[in-house]
Amino acid sequence: MITIDKPPTDEKLVEYAIEARQRAYAPYSNYKVGSAIYATHDGLHYVIQGCNVENASYGLTICAERSACCHALSNMTNLKFNRIAIITKDGKGFPCGACRQFLNEFNPSLEIIIADPEGKITARTDLNELLPSSFGPHSLK
Ligand code: THU
Repeated sequence: MITIDKPPTDEKLVEYAIEARQRAYAPYSNYKVGSAIYATHDGLHYVIQGCNVENASYGLTICAERSACCHALSNMTNLKFNRIAIITKDGKGFPCGACRQFLNEFNPSLEIIIADPEGKITARTDLNELLPSSFGPHSLK
């Protein structure tokens, strides 16, 4: 978890995700994914990085997006997730269905930046668009 002095530009958040991707543990798929969440709390700005972590028991693999999410929650309570950058080798990797649902728990309007390892941004979207009519905390009220 990194403290920063102001909201990061999309390009800067992408840089953090590129750095995290270098730590991906993906010996089975060799498909490395990096992510970086920009979050705020009490007027302070944070970046939380994540990478995919695979396992010899393949189904236990954790995606980069969920990894960043758990990293964030493990470090600080009441963080507001504003934006996430996601890096895959071709810059075309959108979050999987499980990650969409997982992120939706914390901000159904989360902004999403998709980019490649050179920092080229290929898409900007948000969770409302990727997971419409979502099931979330409000559904249980
Ligand atoms: N993966 C992610 O990290 N995020 C996604 O949204 C999709 C897939 C990872 C899981 C696995 O380690 C590799 O990519 C291939 O599926």
